[in-house]
Amino acid sequence: MQRLFAPAVLSAFTYSTLSAASTVSYCPTTNVCYQVGVPEASASSGSGDIYLQLQAPTSYTWVALGTGSQMSGANIFVMYADGTGNVTVSPRKGTGHTEPKHQTTTSLQVLAGSGVIDNGQTMVANVKCANCESWDGGSLTLTSSSANFIAAWKKGSAVNSKSLEASISMHDNHDQFTFDLTKATLADDTNPFVEASSGGSGESNTTTPNGSSGSGSGSGSSSGSTTPAWVREIPTIESAHGILMSIVMVVLYPLGSILMPLFGSWVLHAVWQIGSFLAMWAAFALGVILAQRTGYNFTENHTILGTVVVALFGVQPIGGYLHHLYYVKNQRRGLVSYGHIWYGRILIVLGIINGGLGLKLAGAAQSLVIAYAVVAAVIFVAYMGAAVLGEVKRNRRAGPGRARKSSA
Ligand code: HEM
Ligand code: HEM
Ligand code: HEM
Ligand SMILES: *[C@@H]1O[C@H](CO)[C@@H](O)[C@H](O)[C@H]1NC(C)=O
Ligand SMILES: *[C@@H]1O[C@H](CO)[C@@H](O)[C@H](O)[C@H]1NC(C)=O
Ligand SMILES: *[C@@H]1O[C@H](CO)[C@@H](O)[C@H](O)[C@H]1NC(C)=O
Repeated sequence: MQRLFAPAVLSAFTYSTLSAASTVSYCPTTNVCYQVGVPEASASSGSGDIYLQLQAPTSYTWVALGTGSQMSGANIFVMYADGTGNVTVSPRKGTGHTEPKHQTTTSLQVLAGSGVIDNGQTMVANVKCANCESWDGGSLTLTSSSANFIAAWKKGSAVNSKSLEASISMHDNHDQFTFDLTKATLADDTNPFVEASSGGSGESNTTTPNGSSGSGSGSGSSSGSTTPAWVREIPTIESAHGILMSIVMVVLYPLGSILMPLFGSWVLHAVWQIGSFLAMWAAFALGVILAQRTGYNFTENHTILGTVVVALFGVQPIGGYLHHLYYVKNQRRGLVSYGHIWYGRILIVLGIINGGLGLKLAGAAQSLVIAYAVVAAVIFVAYMGAAVLGEVKRNRRAGPGRARKSSA
């Protein structure tokens, strides 16, 4: 709600009061962006507050900015998701080519506008540093036209920790660059990022636009529109994979299995399940593309379990057919029948669980997770009911038959 208001109100506000303000920004890789602003007061006294922004897609497990020219001796700020929709920014001391360890001397404050935004797709940290002009290992001249900075980033699942000491593993890549801080002057000593946390589009260390009009498209924080998260995601591969795979595992396979005890028509069951089976492979192909694009590859529980489940489903139609042949011949269930039935039931349950892991991996909205769980629970209960009904029917048929046989 506030976010709908913010752009209009704040652009009018900035236009009149902050027109002298600008920050410098740089995106070393797609959508991983950094901004720095130095209040006039700090620049003239050579010490005091400076403002930093780190921004990255949530497909990154951590991203970091540092002052200095290499890891060793740098003052490093590492951002990661805190697990509650916000971010943790941990000040760390660079000691060499090893994990920088948390230090308590640098005073960082996470400010408004920080958090996991854009429907869980982007992490933003707006940070005030009260004493970044010097640290144990080096110093930063707040008026330098070529201040040394370093950056590093790593893809992977969310750290989800509020601890400043969370352990991180080595970057996928890093960069060394300079910022012209003379172009980063802020008129006031206030958070400069709240009105338009632009980024994602800028490719160089140019100064950002004045914030009035113009930059409209890139403003990453104006996400809180009225459209629900899942509707806005519909055109993406992520949703196509998630929706199709969930429909197969949560709706189509269980319904196809219910058809069997309910109608006792193996043809109906077989046709339905093979249709679902083909849809599953289409969704699998989308999942593989997603896994490559996001860089998750086969390192996540969701992608590993998903691949195993899909592969194991591969033999299920054959098992069904073998059961059918056995049944036609023997008019009763054999080992192959119980194999087909229980193998199918277990894989369906694993597939449903894996959908939950997928939602977690994608950082899906709470409402979507609840909807998924409710639909899965309803179908599960219906399935149990149909299965019990089927057994009762079978026993009614089998009961007198057996009695007749034994009495004969
Ligand atoms: C577990 C954490 C980390 C480990 C194990 C690690 C390890 C390394 C290693 C082995 C190198 C040299 C090889 C190469 O260039 O790839 C390197 C370079 C570099 N790393 Fe890290 N790093 C870590 C975290 C960080 C962080 C948080 C930053 C933050 C900005 C960073 C920034 C850099 C930069 C700028 C370089 C190139 C300059 C240099 O050699 O110091 N690293 N790192
Ligand atoms: C991916 C494809 C398939 C899946 C996931 C699947 C799954 C299942 C499941 C879970 C059951 C147990 C139903 C219950 O709980 O009562 C079942 C039963 C059965 N399936 Fe399949 N099935 C598939 C393909 C086939 C095919 C291709 C055939 C036949 C050619 C077939 C024939 C049967 C028969 C005859 C039963 C009844 C077994 C009985 O109640 O004695 N299935 N299937
Ligand atoms: C049992 C099978 C599977 C089910 C039920 C399933 C379901 C889901 C669901 C519901 C989502 C969330 C989508 C969203 O929130 O928009 C998702 C995401 C995802 N799935 Fe699957 N999936 C399955 C198998 C796989 C497989 C086999 C792979 C890859 C090898 C895969 C890769 C992914 C990836 C990479 C994401 C998105 C992560 C992101 O964009 O943040 N999934 N899946
Ligand atoms: C994250 O924390 C900061 C500082 O407490 C706060 O100002 C900001 O509103 C929080 N963001 C979210 C999305 O909760
Ligand atoms: C910053 O801009 C200057 C001049 O345009 C350029 O030479 C320098 O390479 C840029 N630095 C980065 C990190 O892009
Ligand atoms: C920023 O404001 C100045 C002065 O109002 C103007 O000359 C300049 O064109 C503006 N730049 C952008 C990118 O809007």
